[in-house]
Amino acid sequence: MATIHYAQRPQYMTLTLFSHDEVHLIRATTPEIIRRTWTNNKVGFGRGIDLDTWLAGNDTLHSQDFSVQGRNKIWILVPKSFNIQQPDLDLILSSVETYERPGLIASKDQGVRDVATMSIASVFTPERYRGQGYASLMMRLLWKTIKQMDHISFTFLYSAVGPTFYGRIGWAPKRSEEILIPANHFFGPVTSDAATTTATTIRQATLEDVKDQDLTELMNWDATLLRQSMKSWLNKPAATPSANNRVLTAVLPEPNCIKWLLARSRFMARHILKLDPCEITVLGVKDTQSDSFVLWHHDFIEDRLVVTRWCLDSKTEEGQRDMIARAMVQAAQMEAQRWNLSTVVVWNPGQSLADLLELGIRQRYEKAIPSLGLVSSPETDPENVEWIMNEKYAWKVFLS
Ligand SMILES: CC(C)(COP(=O)(O)OP(=O)(O)OC[C@H]1O[C@@H](n2cnc3c(N)ncnc32)[C@H](O)[C@@H]1OP(=O)(O)O)[C@@H](O)C(=O)NCCC(=O)NCCS
Repeated sequence: MATIHYAQRPQYMTLTLFSHDEVHLIRATTPEIIRRTWTNNKVGFGRGIDLDTWLAGNDTLHSQDFSVQGRNKIWILVPKSFNIQQPDLDLILSSVETYERPGLIASKDQGVRDVATMSIASVFTPERYRGQGYASLMMRLLWKTIKQMDHISFTFLYSAVGPTFYGRIGWAPKRSEEILIPANHFFGPVTSDAATTTATTIRQATLEDVKDQDLTELMNWDATLLRQSMKSWLNKPAATPSANNRVLTAVLPEPNCIKWLLARSRFMARHILKLDPCEITVLGVKDTQSDSFVLWHHDFIEDRLVVTRWCLDSKTEEGQRDMIARAMVQAAQMEAQRWNLSTVVVWNPGQSLADLLELGIRQRYEKAIPSLGLVSSPETDPENVEWIMNEKYAWKVFLS
């Protein structure tokens, strides 16, 4: 333990630092401690809003179905002397939260398996404790703890601090690309035939709105389609012998994670923008004659309509699929305009969408880099592991 004088504080005070042997990772289980982790990390994730709103938002999101019944856990790095019943809350050195959720893994030798996964978020060290290796230690201890749980296959997070910090512990950076579609972008010239048909598609309303009550059925169907596509990948002969070692992972789409994002949008609308959140009623659109659909959520802080799930039915003939894609993008643009959001974002889109829209795909280096940790089989070469359907439905950050 070392005590240093900490002169930048408003009142001259001392700061006690602990060696890595003197600290451990524990669950934050009391409301008092949990609340303090939120108060601490507001400066990192809740900039620009007042503390009461920040705490209320955390209360709202942590009481969603996605978070309750043991799925959400908050972890803190504290000195071993830390007393949970009478805690010195200033001694929370670093904190992080996890959400247990379902996933899928497919490999040639084991087939498609339903597995448990954990998404990791809100990694935070108070400024005065930074640079002491606390967050790195916390993440290494978290990895060990999750491994000891013995039922989690992989974990994932979205790095806001580049690929190295988490990469050296075990979370390998994965595809981190996006397409930014201005809400008022015109899709370039289309042939007159296509223009007529596209207009007809929209006019004839083959797209219908997705509402709250449609989510459960749609997401369960989406999960079924994902399983099917993983199975059909397994049944295809491998192009090269090394392709036999490939492993596919996916976070299972589930209604609760979409509802969590929706609760986030509605909270922002009501408490940050003072808009009527009940007016967020259109959560996406689906094509009534195929399995194509798009879901989105409104990110009022980032000024974006974010596509959480983009699904084009592969059974549909290519030209028809393009028309549906255009119509779905246009529906997203209209929703963005309706809420005065300037941009529609799609994570990790196919090249065909970029070509169709005549827009480039950009690499996202600075924020939300999807990173995958294979806790149950760290010996697997990350290069052999593909995170499929790596889209924003799996992401979970309150504000940033
Ligand atoms: C990122 C954070 C958790 C690190 O906490 P910490 O206890 O100081 O971390 P450690 O001492 O274990 O490690 C510090 C390392 O992180 C790196 N790091 C910190 N902030 C960084 C940033 N914004 N971008 C890139 N690297 C960063 C440091 O350069 C240092 O690297 P080094 O070990 O090679 O010198 C802390 O700075 C923080 O809470 N930031 C605000 C919230 C945040 O961005 N959290 C991450 C969300 S994914």
